[in-house]
Amino acid sequence: MGAVTVADSNDVFHIGGDMPVHRMGYGAMQLAGPRAAGPPRDPEVAKALLRRAVELGVTFIDTADVYGPGDNERLIRDALAPYPSSLVIGTKAGMVRNKDGSISIKGNESHIRAAIEGSLQNLGVDCIDLYQLHRVDPSTPLEETMLVLRALRDEGKLRHIGLSQVSVNQIERARAIVEIATVQNFFNLAHRQYDDVLTYCERNRIGFIPFCPLHIDGFALSETLCRIASRMSASTRQVALAWLYKRSQVTVVIPGTSSIEHLEENVAASKLELSVDDRFELDELGVRLR
Ligand SMILES: NC(=O)c1ccc[n+]([C@@H]2O[C@H](COP(=O)([O-])OP(=O)(O)OC[C@H]3O[C@@H](n4cnc5c(N)ncnc54)[C@H](OP(=O)(O)O)[C@@H]3O)[C@@H](O)[C@H]2O)c1
Repeated sequence: MGAVTVADSNDVFHIGGDMPVHRMGYGAMQLAGPRAAGPPRDPEVAKALLRRAVELGVTFIDTADVYGPGDNERLIRDALAPYPSSLVIGTKAGMVRNKDGSISIKGNESHIRAAIEGSLQNLGVDCIDLYQLHRVDPSTPLEETMLVLRALRDEGKLRHIGLSQVSVNQIERARAIVEIATVQNFFNLAHRQYDDVLTYCERNRIGFIPFCPLHIDGFALSETLCRIASRMSASTRQVALAWLYKRSQVTVVIPGTSSIEHLEENVAASKLELSVDDRFELDELGVRLR
């Protein structure tokens, strides 16, 4: 399959207004071990996949310090550094994997400061392109965490700040402290609870990164989805990705996979032309799910 081209400005979103990315990106979490812990089973295959993503025209890769922890960021550095100038890497902080495998949320200053030093080192960079707060810490006021992120930006350690799994109210509280470039929430064809957040992002030119774009469960079997996919000689997953891609000019889609074949299929979904009728039918499916 040929590389995606970025000639069409509809394919590009400028994160923070100054970092252009192709809106079909790649989420690297599947390149960690089982349950996003430890390194991948075959690091050479994982590195080849990351290089293939770049070759296909992917310019946004999403990761997090907790994937591993650290292994996922180091894998990206091993595969891609020195990084192409067009590549934007988004990582995250605020989640900690405990020894027993459980996850804690931490948004206090000492944790975030230690986390960014770890990510800078793991990724082998002086400044992180997009630094996302993985979760809002219920025991640290959001404002306090945002003040730390603003200070890190002013110190030149990160370029743009993002949030993850947040409400409109939380985005507004964060924006009262510092500019927010992206919001990454659980959203796909079958799960649209964050429709209001997407609308808010659109109105404010904030990038919306729907995570788990393919977690559509039994929805893949929906008669409508299968019919549209079959008419377009595409897979149901490609149609689900194409729907997200067309849903808004501010969406940056990050399907995750550990297979080069699936990667190629997913990237190609940005080229699927859904008709107005197809989009209407897929939109309506979501209304029926509510
Ligand atoms: N902010 C957050 O809290 C948060 C939470 C979860 C995820 N994320 C981010 O979102 C990214 C995507 O989420 P995700 O990886 O959990 O879920 P996803 O992209 O919705 O789906 C990944 C799953 O779909 C399979 N798959 C992918 N492409 C396929 C294809 N073309 N055909 C058949 N199966 C396919 C993968 O298996 P194969 O490996 O076999 O292809 C994998 O099991 C992650 O990588 C991560 O960067 C963020």
